[in-house]
Amino acid sequence: MSEDAVSVSHQNGIAVITLNNPPVNGLGFAVRTGLKQVLDTVADDADVLGIVLTGNGKMFSGGADIREFGKTPPKGTPPLPDLIDRLEALDKPVVAAIHGVALGGGCELTLGCHVRLAAQGTRVGLPEVTLGILPGAGGTQRMPRLIGVSAALDMIVSGKMLPAAKASALGILDRVVDGDVVAAAVAQALELADGGAPVRRASALDERLAKARDNPALFDEFRQKMARRARGFDAPYACVDCVEAAVTKPFAEGLAYERASFLKLVASDQSKAQRHAFFAEREVAKIPDVPKNTPTQPVDAAAVIGCGTMGGGIAMNFAGAGIPVQVFEVSQEALDKGIATIKKNYAATVSKGRLSQEEMDQRLSLISTTLNYADLAQADVVIEAVFENMALKKEVFGTLDSICKPEAVLATNTSTLDVNEIASVTSRPDKVIGTHFFSPANVMKLMENVRGEASSPKTIATIMWLSKRIGKIGVLVGVCDGFVGNRMLYAYRRQADFLLEEGATPQQIDKVIFDFGLPMGPFTMADLAGLDVGWRIRQGQAATRPKHLRYSTVADRICELGRFGQKTGAGWYRYEESNRTPIPDPKIEQLIVSISEEQGLTRRQVTDQEILERCMYALVNEGAKILEEGLALRASDIDVIWMNGYGFPRYRGGPMFWADLVGVKTIYDVMSRLHDEHGEWLEPAPLLKRLADEGKKFGDL
Ligand SMILES: NC(=O)c1ccc[n+]([C@@H]2O[C@H](COP(=O)([O-])OP(=O)(O)OC[C@H]3O[C@@H](n4cnc5c(N)ncnc54)[C@H](O)[C@@H]3O)[C@@H](O)[C@H]2O)c1
Repeated sequence: MSEDAVSVSHQNGIAVITLNNPPVNGLGFAVRTGLKQVLDTVADDADVLGIVLTGNGKMFSGGADIREFGKTPPKGTPPLPDLIDRLEALDKPVVAAIHGVALGGGCELTLGCHVRLAAQGTRVGLPEVTLGILPGAGGTQRMPRLIGVSAALDMIVSGKMLPAAKASALGILDRVVDGDVVAAAVAQALELADGGAPVRRASALDERLAKARDNPALFDEFRQKMARRARGFDAPYACVDCVEAAVTKPFAEGLAYERASFLKLVASDQSKAQRHAFFAEREVAKIPDVPKNTPTQPVDAAAVIGCGTMGGGIAMNFAGAGIPVQVFEVSQEALDKGIATIKKNYAATVSKGRLSQEEMDQRLSLISTTLNYADLAQADVVIEAVFENMALKKEVFGTLDSICKPEAVLATNTSTLDVNEIASVTSRPDKVIGTHFFSPANVMKLMENVRGEASSPKTIATIMWLSKRIGKIGVLVGVCDGFVGNRMLYAYRRQADFLLEEGATPQQIDKVIFDFGLPMGPFTMADLAGLDVGWRIRQGQAATRPKHLRYSTVADRICELGRFGQKTGAGWYRYEESNRTPIPDPKIEQLIVSISEEQGLTRRQVTDQEILERCMYALVNEGAKILEEGLALRASDIDVIWMNGYGFPRYRGGPMFWADLVGVKTIYDVMSRLHDEHGEWLEPAPLLKRLADEGKKFGDL
């Protein structure tokens, strides 16, 4: 097998070594063993004047084979860093011929070559940080020597891929060639061999490090600059430490430091969680009864009904993907307002330099407006985003059904209403589905695609494909109150409100949740989103709410004061003029204390640990119920929803993966105790009990 994974051919005295491990030439055990064997034969072969290293198929190499992480390699498999050192140490010129991508270990492998040539369209990058690790095969040591410390830090800490032109301007690539890159590399290797000049080894370069030695403060400045984005993550900081080691230590010591950091990270829970996240986001596409080859409805034209907060953002998603989109509204005034908001959003992105004016104009040209339903007859997919009102949605769907072409998919962005009931008013319930976007819809990655009873495989496949096409992660869920994400959110929010009545403050709870890693706590988030929408929903549910279940009135009482959050300058917190910083408000604390009294509750010291357990275990418990009810396909889908829709920290892998790390049995035991103490809302889900009894994890399901 190892001979197949790496092959060698000879051209005019140059050994062309080809990685051959489809689909991405991952640098797994077989490739490394194969490469070692080939190097053994060519290194001392006097007929071999130089070496070209290339990849077969679509790319040079996608990097390490992460499925092999944590596995013991077969005896004699060389570690990648050793192979790269060996390659670099050769006196014969070694030229990398790169095409497609060279990522992670693949990129590091090219850094061990003496010259790097790339075909047009090549991209290179060190994305290890996104998996909770760092480039552990010399990348943090060679890259700063090649391109300087600042550029290396940017590249390694962001994990971003660089296009060939940028990589060549920085000095990662020596040349970008038109045409056959292997032929160019062979010619270059021959020329170098003929010239007889010593080879250029990245490890021996020092000029660019010297600059950083003169300015050692740059590392702390970089740490400060990244602090907000990297909060809670270990890997970005470890990357900076390693690049700093490249500056302060001799190469061999820096390499040893990098290796030790890598091994520590790779064994950490954070890295396990981030690798889980990586696989989970690929897994969502697999739907047992909608196989990969299910036909989809081509989407060449889209329409959005309602251009409010969500509709405008949704239209931007289509335009961003190059799909013409019509926006329908009830009045010219509403249309003008919606389009003005879209323009304002684009302009803000342009002013930040993240979009060019031409791109903005191009996207705007794809968004057209109409007040006339008949204009939507040719849309392939229509997404409804009108007010959250069943009668209105039914009316809209009835109209859409009568004017849209028969094969068009009709989707609703409802966040709480029954998709089946909406579908029932159409003659094509098989083509009706929910597409639950998250606010702001042009930014948030998640789409909960809500499968109705009648949604056909073709409709599901179309919407799952469309999610991807417009740059989102679509997760298929079933119909229930709040679908997956919000239903779990309610369970956690409910406990947060109860804890207020029992003795906690909003700021205490928010701090615990923020420190756990969510972008903000539940009350700060509520103030940002606005309290009135939820209040209206609760008022609607009041008549049917079971009387025996505990209900917290705190949120309602705050709304009764006309405090709807940031938009009214006050909510759970107070706000100063044009400042979004929440300031604890003694009035709210007094209100909470008086509600505790009314409820006959003696306020007590609530510990941070209790807050975390009551909120997060309740969240996990609701997730377990959702799984049992078949509303999510797998535990990892729930993780994807929470990481991409609610900011659950990726370094914890989502709530269900985190639960596995904590231990399902631990959570079950605590939930059982909490249930005894606080009643029905905290009853452990049967699935939680079963897994705890069987010593299993959600990941085993
Ligand atoms: N705001 C959120 O965070 C959020 C998140 C997910 C889902 N949703 C859901 O998205 C939908 C829209 O919410 P929103 O926040 O954008 O509301 P919004 O009030 O900002 O916008 C609704 C828009 O629909 C228009 N409209 C009303 N009746 C219409 C009709 N008959 N035909 C065409 N347009 C009509 C209104 O003029 C308004 O512009 C709701 O179902 C809501 O539950 C909202």
